[in-house]
Amino acid sequence: MPLSLAEMAIEVLTCADGREKTALSHRHAAAWRAARETGTPLPIGRADPPLHPARPAQPELLDPRDVPRRRPGSPQGRIALLHAVAHIELNAVDLHWDIVARFTDISMPLGFFDDWVKAADEESKHFNLICDCLEAMGSHYGALPAHAGMWRAAEDTVDDIMGRLAVVPMVLEARGLDVTPGMIEVFRNAGEDRTVAALEVIYAEEVGHVAYGSKWFHFLCGRHDIDPKDEFHRLVRRYFHGALKPPFNEEKRAEAGLPPDFYWPLADETPQRPR
Ligand SMILES: [Fe+2]
Ligand SMILES: [Fe+2]
Repeated sequence: MPLSLAEMAIEVLTCADGREKTALSHRHAAAWRAARETGTPLPIGRADPPLHPARPAQPELLDPRDVPRRRPGSPQGRIALLHAVAHIELNAVDLHWDIVARFTDISMPLGFFDDWVKAADEESKHFNLICDCLEAMGSHYGALPAHAGMWRAAEDTVDDIMGRLAVVPMVLEARGLDVTPGMIEVFRNAGEDRTVAALEVIYAEEVGHVAYGSKWFHFLCGRHDIDPKDEFHRLVRRYFHGALKPPFNEEKRAEAGLPPDFYWPLADETPQRPR
């Protein structure tokens, strides 16, 4: 018997080592895709995902306030910045497999699973690309402490699929679209071409993840006859701690199906809206 998709997700979530987790994620994504292409999709199944995914012994996870500040002007600062990106990518692998396995009691079209499996596969590639860059710079994932709060959004929305879509792809991953161009500039100015190339792959593919979030959020609003914008505001205020930070990458957000009236009302104070 082949594994169900939910069982595959649990295997990824319970694997602690980053390189092993991402290899497993890639294999399972390929199996799902292959079965879809032959017209005999794997069963979605049911599973009981852990509240927290397995994590390697290193990096040490610290309260965000205790993670040293990153100054990207030095090689050490750039390593710290990349280390933080690797940590985000590893969490993103688990976040996407978690949404696959967590809400199987809600009937969703197969396209929902196609999208998140593809996103998880891409995050696995992102983690490995960044780990390769870190290793080329003489460091590795686990060498520095990392942010302990990264799974908070998943815990807070453990029983609310729309809250999960609002906070994870439509707020956190959309934030990635805002900050990645600046990061690419830092590495370009430092002549770190390998990292520039890796970040450009990430930047291009993350637009898709935000778009999947927006697509399925709107789908569920339509199913329940709810106004998407009001519901998005309500859910972000409920589950996301703090205001959204401008400046926003309005162009990429638009490409991902996030209109300005979704995020501007949730921004810090009353920012000056660019014309
Ligand atoms: Fe990513
Ligand atoms: Fe992503």
